[in-house]
Amino acid sequence: MSAKESPARPPVKLAVLISGEGTNLQAIIDATSRGELRADIRLVVSNKAGAGGLERARRHGIPAQALDHRQFVTREDFDRALVATLNSHEVELVACAGFMRILSPVMVRAFPNRIMNIHPALCPAFPGVNAQKAACEYGVRFSGCTVFFVGEGVDDGPIIVQAVVPVYPDDDEARLAARIHVQEHRIYPYAIRLYQEGRLEVRGRKVFISDFPTVHNSSAAINPPLP
Ligand code: GRF
Repeated sequence: MSAKESPARPPVKLAVLISGEGTNLQAIIDATSRGELRADIRLVVSNKAGAGGLERARRHGIPAQALDHRQFVTREDFDRALVATLNSHEVELVACAGFMRILSPVMVRAFPNRIMNIHPALCPAFPGVNAQKAACEYGVRFSGCTVFFVGEGVDDGPIIVQAVVPVYPDDDEARLAARIHVQEHRIYPYAIRLYQEGRLEVRGRKVFISDFPTVHNSSAAINPPLP
């Protein structure tokens, strides 16, 4: 990604939702620090108080708070509290980054086409948890990761960016997950940048990107490589 910016548009008012380590959160913070992404990260929310990503956020001076889903009777109650928290911080775009909660329509309809998620597979393949393990077990030659707009289904919303990685015969879940993670850290800030630049438009189940960048190289990726 080049360091080209779009000064005409203000930084996107962003919240990041996490449940764990938050390495994708870190990639978003780093892209912002490098000037590759104009984001005002107003808040990080975790549904788990012990999530490493909360500390990561605080180290960077970003407000971080836990909202324990176990304190709420229903999924909708939790989502109502989440919506109220995000609205109180004037959040425009929500990026789920390892947030291990299925969002109810309460949350999805409060931020229509303004919630992104990243899934460690090439959607629509291998939705849900343990996608890397499922890819290894299935025997696919390629997998990857997908940034998409969250809809009311699981990992099936309109796709913004995907990255492809090869899967090798001696891969296990951890090796494949590590290879995919590297690409997650590249495409998540990129997808948010496309939003900040006002270049994403959702029509039906497709995302249209204005000034779609093309490479003049139509060669296919083949794994194993042709001799
Ligand atoms: C990533 O693999 C992401 O694709 C999935 O959860 C993981 C989060 O990793 N949704 P991290 O907490 O950002 O390191």
